Amino acid sequence: MFGRNKKALVVYHTKTGHTAEAAEAVARGLRERKFQVVVKRVSEVSPGELEGCAVLAVGSPTRGARPARVVKRFIKGLEKKSLKGKAATVFTAYAGFRGRATLRRLRRLLKRRGAKVVLRGVAVKAGAPLSLWKGPQASPEDVARLEELGRKLAKRA
Ligand SMILES: Cc1cc2nc3c(=O)[nH]c(=O)nc-3n(C[C@H](O)[C@H](O)[C@H](O)COP(=O)(O)O)c2cc1C
Repeated sequence: MFGRNKKALVVYHTKTGHTAEAAEAVARGLRERKFQVVVKRVSEVSPGELEGCAVLAVGSPTRGARPARVVKRFIKGLEKKSLKGKAATVFTAYAGFRGRATLRRLRRLLKRRGAKVVLRGVAVKAGAPLSLWKGPQASPEDVARLEELGRKLAKRA
């Protein structure tokens, strides 16, 4: 559609790389739908970058059944006006338990900041529990679910 904002921001935190890989998969899905996508760590995002985007996807590793503290702080630090009307979703890498709890918390944080959370998000199993050792990768099926999340998010923008 002419003139439609097709910019997306995919932000994440990672320690051992699994959530970064998940972020790239979400970005691939968005790009398939002709979005211009910036993929960045939460620590590298400036508030202005968010303002120009129609959609936002936020990813975090699951840590103690929750999102990582830096991701929570990132969302809480966003101004409501910068999230208003933006279609948003979430994703997490978890090693075995409570990935969906992380998704729930991320969604709630985004809603509180005024984002329009349009999809429940995807939790992919990857990595080793309670360890900084890089464990198994996400399965091809899970990678496909992340790509699909990106495509669906593009549709909901
Ligand atoms: C301090 C810490 C706490 C973790 N807590 C959980 C947890 O509650 N549930 C779980 O399934 N995995 C947990 N994990 C494993 C990570 O979620 C998993 O390895 C994930 O793939 C890491 O993502 P990353 O490579 O993006 O850092 C924990 C890992 C660490 C280091």
